[in-house]
Amino acid sequence: MTLLSVYSILVFLLLGCANVRVQAEQQCRLIAQNALAALDPSSTNAIGLPNGNSTSTHGSSATPTSTGATSAPSATVTSFNYGKDIIRGVNLGGWFVLEPWITPSLFNDTGNDAIIDEFTLGLILDKAEALKLLTNHWQTWITEQDFIDIKAAGLTHVRMQIGYWSIPITSADTNYTTDVDPYIPGAWPYLLQALNWAKQHDIHVILDLHGAPGSQNGYDNSGERGDPTWGMNATDVPRTLDIIKFMSEKIGGMIDVLELINEPVMYRDSQQQLLTQYYQQGYQLVRNTTGQDLQVMIGDAFLGVQSWTNFLTQPSAQGVFMDFHEYQVFNYPQLQLDFNGHINYSCQVLDQLRSYSQSNIFTIIGEWSVATTDCALWLNGRGIGARWDGTWQPNQQVFGNCTGLTGNMSEFSNDYKTFLRKYWEVQADIGEAIQGWVYWAWKVENADDWSYQRGLQGGWIPQGPTSRMYPNQCSG
Ligand SMILES: *[C@@H]1O[C@H](CO)[C@@H](O)[C@H](O)[C@H]1NC(C)=O
Ligand SMILES: *[C@@H]1O[C@H](CO)[C@@H](O)[C@H](O)[C@H]1NC(C)=O
Ligand SMILES: *[C@@H]1O[C@H](CO)[C@@H](O)[C@H](O)[C@H]1NC(C)=O
Ligand SMILES: *[C@@H]1O[C@H](CO)[C@@H](O)[C@H](O)[C@H]1NC(C)=O
Ligand SMILES: *[C@@H]1O[C@H](CO)[C@@H](O)[C@H](O)[C@H]1NC(C)=O
Ligand SMILES: *[C@@H]1O[C@H](CO)[C@@H](O)[C@H](O)[C@H]1NC(C)=O
Ligand SMILES: *[C@@H]1O[C@H](CO)[C@@H](O)[C@H](O)[C@H]1NC(C)=O
Ligand SMILES: *[C@@H]1O[C@H](CO)[C@@H](O)[C@H](O)[C@H]1NC(C)=O
Repeated sequence: MTLLSVYSILVFLLLGCANVRVQAEQQCRLIAQNALAALDPSSTNAIGLPNGNSTSTHGSSATPTSTGATSAPSATVTSFNYGKDIIRGVNLGGWFVLEPWITPSLFNDTGNDAIIDEFTLGLILDKAEALKLLTNHWQTWITEQDFIDIKAAGLTHVRMQIGYWSIPITSADTNYTTDVDPYIPGAWPYLLQALNWAKQHDIHVILDLHGAPGSQNGYDNSGERGDPTWGMNATDVPRTLDIIKFMSEKIGGMIDVLELINEPVMYRDSQQQLLTQYYQQGYQLVRNTTGQDLQVMIGDAFLGVQSWTNFLTQPSAQGVFMDFHEYQVFNYPQLQLDFNGHINYSCQVLDQLRSYSQSNIFTIIGEWSVATTDCALWLNGRGIGARWDGTWQPNQQVFGNCTGLTGNMSEFSNDYKTFLRKYWEVQADIGEAIQGWVYWAWKVENADDWSYQRGLQGGWIPQGPTSRMYPNQCSG
């Protein structure tokens, strides 16, 4: 570990991220959360796994009672030439891995402030009640109509999140534990149903392991907010590889891209080595299981894409994508940027990623948004405020109040919406300059600055994803 990163983490701990260096930017989303230790995590009943066990191949017939199997792509799906064709997509965030800020009402309705993520939801609520709540969410948050609308918006891909606790791996598939307590399993059949909708509506799928055992980043979006411990127990990585193998075998034929892990944060050198090995072994495992059919996606782990120079490049590896997440709202220097500063920053990212992708592996921006603030309610975690208006940490820079910057777009000014359109276009142009982009997110309950759906309605996202009102913003 370098002195700089030791310094960064110290500063992070002492000052709550006020001035943390670039490589640690995203770590500032992490808030230590140890208040759960008092609760009893020993309950072990794993409920809720649907009872069906069909292994028949799927045409359009997977239902929420089958466990799924590999099947050949349907003839109706337009073939996609990875690396040549540009991926244009949306994330179905908050569906199979809950995020309080995407569905604040679901969390609010529990009436319990200690429920801050999917882990605590399963830990604190009665199991049957939690399953009922989750099942209702799986059935309603995204429906077949969304796939129809995504197709109509001219998009080619969805990126879908899944937590390890939802993968119905059995002790025949692994020598490690299959216990997922206190998580509530049961999302898998809904994932299978979604894969069939995708196929029926000619949408390609990037499936992303968003939550790994122990949490790979400590964000609520990994399932568990707190200390990221993935890799600290020697069984974590081989266990995760078994899960990847299971997914490749069971649904490799129903997806196009498998992302090995989302946003791992490598606080410790030992974890970084493990991650490198995990990527290499995970890649090999997918190739051993599915041949060349599936694209394999890795992330930069907030280290910058340059840290992955010559990694899993041809000819020793084929069909590997780098997924870079491009946000400009999670640290003070970025929040300080004015509108032109955000455009300028985007153009710099474009240059860096294009250069990397040309000499290394295919690259996409797999998460990005037009948000210019961290004002969206609970974006930094349930019960946590925003840097923007000074409610995140005391004695920090305050940029303004959050009125009219998030929430309902009926409060957005015309100037703001005009900027959002420019900003959407310039960031989409980053993706167009490499192998593609996937917006975060398709649907967000009450933060229209993050919602692709609302952007289409509000006019800051074009109806056709390649049409431009402000072309060539980076060529000046
Ligand atoms: C599948 O379900 C059927 C009927 O519910 C049962 O008889 C059979 O043993 C199950 N097979 C497996 C492999 O669990
Ligand atoms: C939470 O519920 C309370 C009581 O129903 C309501 O007043 C409040 O607006 C809700 N907040 C959110 C974020 O949904
Ligand atoms: C479990 O370990 C045994 C003994 O090393 C090995 O033969 C078997 O393949 C392993 N099973 C799995 C699913 O990895
Ligand atoms: C590692 O995790 C496994 C499975 O959860 C558990 O049985 C084991 O006790 C853990 N080992 C340590 C050293 O914590
Ligand atoms: C993949 O297959 C090769 C050749 O059979 C084998 O040597 C290698 O260990 C396998 N890798 C993984 C991660 O399973
Ligand atoms: C764009 O960013 C670069 C590098 O940070 C800086 O030198 C330049 O002044 C910026 N331009 C504008 C217009 O902000
Ligand atoms: C927020 O700021 C705007 C403009 O700066 C101001 O008009 C409004 O009164 C402020 N709202 C609150 C709740 O402070
Ligand atoms: C947004 O505000 C408008 C106008 O006040 C209202 O009609 C609409 O229902 C609101 N939308 C949501 C999702 O709350």
